This record gives sequence, C-alpha cells and structure tokens, in this order.
Amino acid sequence: MEKEISQAVIRRMPRYYRYLGELLDDGVERISSNDLSNRMCVTASQIRQDLNNFGGFGQQGYGYNVKYLHDEIGKILGLDQTHNIIVIGAGNLGQALANYVKFERLGFRIIALFDVNPALQGMTVRGIKVHMLDELDDFCKENQVDIAALTMPKEKASITASHLVDLGIHAIWNFAHVDLELSQQDVVVENVHLSDSLMQLSYNIVKNQKQK
Ligand code: NAI
Repeated sequence: MEKEISQAVIRRMPRYYRYLGELLDDGVERISSNDLSNRMCVTASQIRQDLNNFGGFGQQGYGYNVKYLHDEIGKILGLDQTHNIIVIGAGNLGQALANYVKFERLGFRIIALFDVNPALQGMTVRGIKVHMLDELDDFCKENQVDIAALTMPKEKASITASHLVDLGIHAIWNFAHVDLELSQQDVVVENVHLSDSLMQLSYNIVKNQKQK
C-alpha cells in the first residue's frame, strides 16, 4: 500500500515547485540543500524530511538537480496531466479566474463558464464561452471535466456541488463562503477563502500596532 503523506507536507509542495521553477528560469542547474533552505527560509532538515516522503531526491555532496526535482515535484502534484476546469458563476470572480492565463502553464485549462443570468448568454471571457446552467449536464457528458470551480452565491453552492458530483466531477475548487459537506470518499474539495488570509494580515497589523 502507498504510504499516506500528510496534508501539511502536500501543502508545502507547491512552494517548492514555485521556487525551483524560478531557479530554472534563472538557469540554475543544481542547488545545495543549504542554499535552497536559505532562499525559502525553511530549514534544510525540513526540506530533506519533506522530500524523503517521496524517496528523497538529493545526493550527498551534490545537492539537488533543479530540473529533476522540479519535474518530480510536478509529478507528485499531478502537474504532468492536464486538468479541465469549468467555472460555475461567471461574475466578477469567475471571470477573473477565466482571464488568468498562467493556470494553463500548470496544466489547468478553463474550458467553460456557467451562469444563470441570461444577460451573460453568448458572452466569452478570453475566448471561453459562458453557458447557461441548464446546459451543464450535456456539457459534462460531452466533455472531460476534471474540476469545477464554484464562484457563485453560497446559498446554491452545496446543491450545485452535489449535482456536479452526480455528473461525475470529483474535484471542487470552492470559493463560495460555505463549508461544503460532501460525503463521497472519492470527492476532493479545496476551499479558497481570500478573506481568511486578509484576516490573518489584519491580526498581524494589530499585533504590530500594539508592540509600538
Ligand atoms: P458576482 O455577483 O459578481 O457573481 C456571481 C455570479 O453567480 C453571478 O453572475 C450570478 O448570476 C451567478 N449565479 C447565481 N446563482 C447561480 C447558480 N445557481 N449557478 C450558477 N451561477 C449562479 O459575485 P463575485 O464577486 O464573483 O463572487 C462570487 C462568489 O465568490 C460569492 O459567493 C462570493 O462571496 C465569493 N467570493 C469568494 C472569495 C474567496 O476568497 N473565497 C473572494 C471573492 C468572492
């Protein structure tokens, strides 16, 4: 059986991937674990421990081969596959996601948006069509959809998510401010709450003010 990797480790992987990508762009071919640790402000032992979960990738006295490590972490994160995304709710946030080109470089392709507002029918965002919600079932039958992003009001998020699961979509990227409760084991949900991050920032602002 494959060893279960902790979510804490998985959450650190994208950051490794990003730093290694920047090193690659700068033409760096290899890096010692100390240099990587200084750049990333994490201890070398943390990096070693994290990577050892996947068999380790460094060599004593050599450090890490940047391209190899970048590619391997990419594979761990499933970035060697293309993921087709549909966006449910073509308002401000849905359109902003569709307008962001760089997701495609990571293999995430937004292939359609859906909305209930007839005023949006026929509109495109960066060439991606906005469909009406009643076209969702047929669209999912005719196209490979891997991920659904929910950028719609929270009141309808839960029922929409259940419907998406019934349509065979097993990954939900949830922006609606609600904790989705989906009982199916094989359904994965990633909640994104920008306001949580802002509240954390606010806490630190207040903390600094108190220390002055
Ligand atoms: P918006 O009002 O611009 O867009 C919402 C869109 O959803 C509208 O076009 C509306 O017609 C559509 N819609 C309504 N019911 C629908 C349904 N049943 N199916 C499909 N589409 C439907 O709102 P905005 O600013 O784009 O925000 C969208 C959602 O994302 C809200 O729930 C908001 O609270 C949330 N949000 C979350 C953030 C986060 O960090 N998690 C950040 C910003 C917004």
